[in-house]
Amino acid sequence: MAAALTDLIPVVNKLQDIVSTTNLTDLDLPLLTTVGSQSAGKSSVLENIVGKDFLPRGTGIVTRRPLILQLINVKPGDALVTKTTGFETDLGLQPGEKTLEDHLREAHGATPSQDNGFGLEWGEFLHMPGKRYYSFDNIRKEIENETARIAGKNKGISRIPINLKVYSPNVLNLTLVDLPGLTKIPIADQPTDIERQIKNLILEYISKPNCIILAISPANVDLVNSESLKLARQVDPQGKRTIGILSKLDLMDHGTNALDILTGKVYPLKLGFIGVVNRSQQDISTNKPLDESLRSEEEFFQNHPAYKTIASKCGTSYLAKTLNQILMNHIRERLPDIKAKLNTLMGQTEQELATYGDSNIVSKEDRGSIILTLMNKFASSFINSIEGNSSDIST
Ligand code: GDP
Ligand code: NA
Ligand code: MG
Repeated sequence: MAAALTDLIPVVNKLQDIVSTTNLTDLDLPLLTTVGSQSAGKSSVLENIVGKDFLPRGTGIVTRRPLILQLINVKPGDALVTKTTGFETDLGLQPGEKTLEDHLREAHGATPSQDNGFGLEWGEFLHMPGKRYYSFDNIRKEIENETARIAGKNKGISRIPINLKVYSPNVLNLTLVDLPGLTKIPIADQPTDIERQIKNLILEYISKPNCIILAISPANVDLVNSESLKLARQVDPQGKRTIGILSKLDLMDHGTNALDILTGKVYPLKLGFIGVVNRSQQDISTNKPLDESLRSEEEFFQNHPAYKTIASKCGTSYLAKTLNQILMNHIRERLPDIKAKLNTLMGQTEQELATYGDSNIVSKEDRGSIILTLMNKFASSFINSIEGNSSDIST
C-alpha cells in the first residue's frame, strides 16, 4: 500500500533493536495528532495514514473520546512477549514462550501465512486486556461501545482516552491520536462550556513538543476561520511541527480552488499544506474500499485543471511520504546519541574481554560478550549507512 507508513518499518525495527541493547529507552518517535473542527475529516485522514478501515467516522460528533492508537510491528516468528508491552501478562506467557505463529495457529486452528487473508493483524484495547480483535469492523464497534459507556449515548464527550494497540507486520511502531473535533454550540448532553473543554483537551495533547500536529481544515470553509490552525499556532507559533491538511477539496464551489493555500501563499507553515480527498459519506455508506478511494483521490488531482501541475505533492500518499520524511529526520537527530552510547558499550565490552585474556577457554559468558561486540560493530555500520543516506529515503 503506497499510502501507509510502511517504508520505514525495517529501519525503525533495526534501530529499535539496537537501541534496546544500549539502554536508550526508545527512539522516542513523535506522536501524530489530528486537530480540526467537527467533521473536518480527522478520523478519515488518520485511517488513511494507517491504511486500515477501523475508526468510526461520519457527520456530527462521532469521535467523543481521545483515541490513543499505538501501532506495533510484529513479524512472523517473533516471540510475542519480547515485542509487546503491557498485555502479555494477561495472556499468561513467559518471555520467549510463544511465537506469533503459535498464537495465530491457536486462534485460527491453522498455520497462518502472510497472504492467507486472516489473522496476522489484530487489535487489543486497554479496557479489554487479553481480548484480541481480528476484525477491524469489530474494532470499530468496540470503539463505539466504549465511547458510549463512558461518554454516554447522547453526544457527550469525555477526556478519558480509549487505548488501542494494533499489532501488524504492516505498521510502523508509532503512536497516533484521534481527538474530538472543535465545536462552538452545545447540543444534547454537552456542557455549556463544550468549546472550552474540547480546546483544553486538544491543547493537552498538542502542546507536547514531541507532537506533530496534523491541522485539518475543510477546503469548503474559508481558511481564516480555521480553528485547527488557530489552536496549532498557540502551541507552535513558528509552524515548525504543524502540517496543514486541506480536506474536502472535492466539495469546493465550482470555479474555485485552493491552489494558493496549497502552494503556501496564504498561510506560512514550514511543513506546508497538503490537499486530500477522503471518502465521502456516501462512500462510507457503500463501504468503498480504502484502496479504491486512494486511486480516485489520485485521479482527482491528476485530472483537476488547477491541481494537475502539483498533483505529485497532493493527496494521502504524499502526506504519508512527508510523514516518513519527518520521522526519518527525527531518527537522524537521535543517531549521534545512539552512536555515543554504542561506543561506550563497545569500549566496556572490549575492556571486559581484555581482562579475560586471549588464552582462556571461551566460556558461555565470554561468547556473549563477543557476540555483543560484533553486534555493536554491525549496528555502527548500519547507523553510518543511514546517516550517509541524506536523500529522501522514503520515496
Ligand atoms: P471528523 O469528525 O473530523 O473525524 O471527520 P470524519 O473523518 O468523521 O468525516 C466527517 C464526514 O465528512 C464524513 O461523512 C466523511 O465521509 C466526510 N468527509 C471527510 N473528508 C472528506 C473529503 O475529503 N471529501 C468528502 N466528500 N467528504 C469527506
Ligand atoms: Na464527524
Ligand atoms: Mg472523528
